[in-house]
Amino acid sequence: MSQDPVFVSKAFSSIAKRYVLTNHVLSFGVDILWRRQVASMVRDFGGQRVLDIACGSGDLAAEVIKKMPQAEVVAADFCAPMLQQARLRGLPMLLVADGMQLPFEAGFFDSLTIGYGLRNMETWDGALSELGRVLKPGGQLVVLDFSIPRGWLCGPYRFYLHRILPVMGGWLTGNREAYDYLSESIERFPSGDEMCDLMRNNGFDEARCIPLWGGISSIYVGRASDPHS
Ligand SMILES: C[S@@+](CC[C@H](N)C(=O)[O-])C[C@H]1O[C@@H](n2cnc3c(N)ncnc32)[C@H](O)[C@@H]1O
Repeated sequence: MSQDPVFVSKAFSSIAKRYVLTNHVLSFGVDILWRRQVASMVRDFGGQRVLDIACGSGDLAAEVIKKMPQAEVVAADFCAPMLQQARLRGLPMLLVADGMQLPFEAGFFDSLTIGYGLRNMETWDGALSELGRVLKPGGQLVVLDFSIPRGWLCGPYRFYLHRILPVMGGWLTGNREAYDYLSESIERFPSGDEMCDLMRNNGFDEARCIPLWGGISSIYVGRASDPHS
């Protein structure tokens, strides 16, 4: 499955100024708790160098910095207007960079985070391989993204995803197409075991999934394999 990076970059450019507010409204503020959970996990892994790729307006990187004030936290995104929002909130190390081709040597980072970003990358296997490359062997990747819940929650969630979210997102940002894309991309994005398999096939071992709130979002954790073992 491939996403068009030109469309993705344009969509985020157009909603950049309203992105944070819209997120909090559409998720009823729960997205804040999920990012905090990711940041706590990264702190517990230890390490000094962290990359938050597809950082957007910097919400996740800001949480990591709060939990790890001594760490070097680089926040990178390929969409300059989204990065501008991160700049306005005062994040110290910002970089325009494409997650599909990162300007770092192999094994540079101890940990890597990506919140609601992998789903938007051109190819998921290509992105995961590149993220694995810049992690030191044994370093941890934490992916946070939406998923489709199973059981009774699935119907109401899909109703919200396809009927309510695009209308509200369009109303709040003026770009309904970006929120139609959001719903469709969540449907396409692999979740649970399928995502863990994708990670295992692209440079990670010990991949595991932590479903959040009945599976409406998930955290995936993968340990970068050692290419020499
Ligand atoms: C939904 S936002 C997520 C922002 C932030 N991580 C958060 O937790 O709110 C997705 C971000 O992914 C970025 N993105 C998509 N593809 C990318 C790529 N190939 N390289 C870098 N950033 C990318 C977009 O520009 C956008 O800012």
